[in-house]
Amino acid sequence: MPWHRKHLLTIEELKRAEIEQILATAAAFRRVLDRKVKKVPALRGKTIVNLFLEPSTRTRISFEMAAKFLSADVISFDASASSTTKGETLRDTAQNIQALNADMIVLRHAASGSPLYLSKVLGIPVVNAGDGAHEHPTQALLDVFTMREKLGDLKGRKVVILGDILFSRVARSNIHALTKLGADVTIVGPSTLVPHWFESMGVRVSHNLRTALADADVVMLLRIQHERQGVSHFPSLGEYTSMFGLNYTRASWVKPDAIIMHPGPINRGVEIDSDIADSPRSVILQQVTNGIAVRMAVLYLCAGGQPEQVLTPVE
Ligand code: CP
Repeated sequence: MPWHRKHLLTIEELKRAEIEQILATAAAFRRVLDRKVKKVPALRGKTIVNLFLEPSTRTRISFEMAAKFLSADVISFDASASSTTKGETLRDTAQNIQALNADMIVLRHAASGSPLYLSKVLGIPVVNAGDGAHEHPTQALLDVFTMREKLGDLKGRKVVILGDILFSRVARSNIHALTKLGADVTIVGPSTLVPHWFESMGVRVSHNLRTALADADVVMLLRIQHERQGVSHFPSLGEYTSMFGLNYTRASWVKPDAIIMHPGPINRGVEIDSDIADSPRSVILQQVTNGIAVRMAVLYLCAGGQPEQVLTPVE
């Protein structure tokens, strides 16, 4: 099946076969990352602009590395030194970047739906690098890529997502990706952050941590998204940690071969203790490395590359 999408805006809109195409393409690029020379000529002559209007470490750097490994030229926009500080709108900013001959924009923005909006007003591909509490598609893709690397087929696998689900774009994108791949997803946390209406997305809602952790194959921690919470949804961080933080005792409730994941940034001693984050069961840094391969795949496909071309050896 040929790849036909110009933009990557959400996981929700992707068919399972499209997720499989991205993951297969990422697997080919993942092998490139293990080579001494990691560069391939796939996007030579293209210019990609990272338009990040919210803070980021992992996503921004890995999109930049992914573009460079594909031989594209890449420009990372510095929001604090840009004319957005003088009131220039997102649309004007993006249209000017397009007029400067950019071939693709990777957008992170606090407003849900901003990548969709740009995709309608620009003529070049737009990739969503996180929009408000809506979606973070490449994070979910790198998460399922890492789960498959560790566990194989995800059909029937039990994935627990623990933390601030209500304000998490990572949770929403992962729920879409995991349910499409046949995983059995349970979301856990305080009832104010894990409301029952999430069941309409095809997941189980639990407020009982011990029961949820007992048969998990994957435990994915999420941090508290203070930047999106207008009012507090629990009495204090200390109380959140005492009820839902993953510490040594609670990690012992999880099967020994289960993996521990976190999209980062982690808040040590809040949602996860250091001895768990740094334990052999943690795949947090493997998630980060796999993020480069997944983003190489997304940039390559949205620029018009075809999966079958990269599935033959990439030279
Ligand atoms: N996981 C993630 O999106 O991290 P950054 O905010 O550092 O990009």
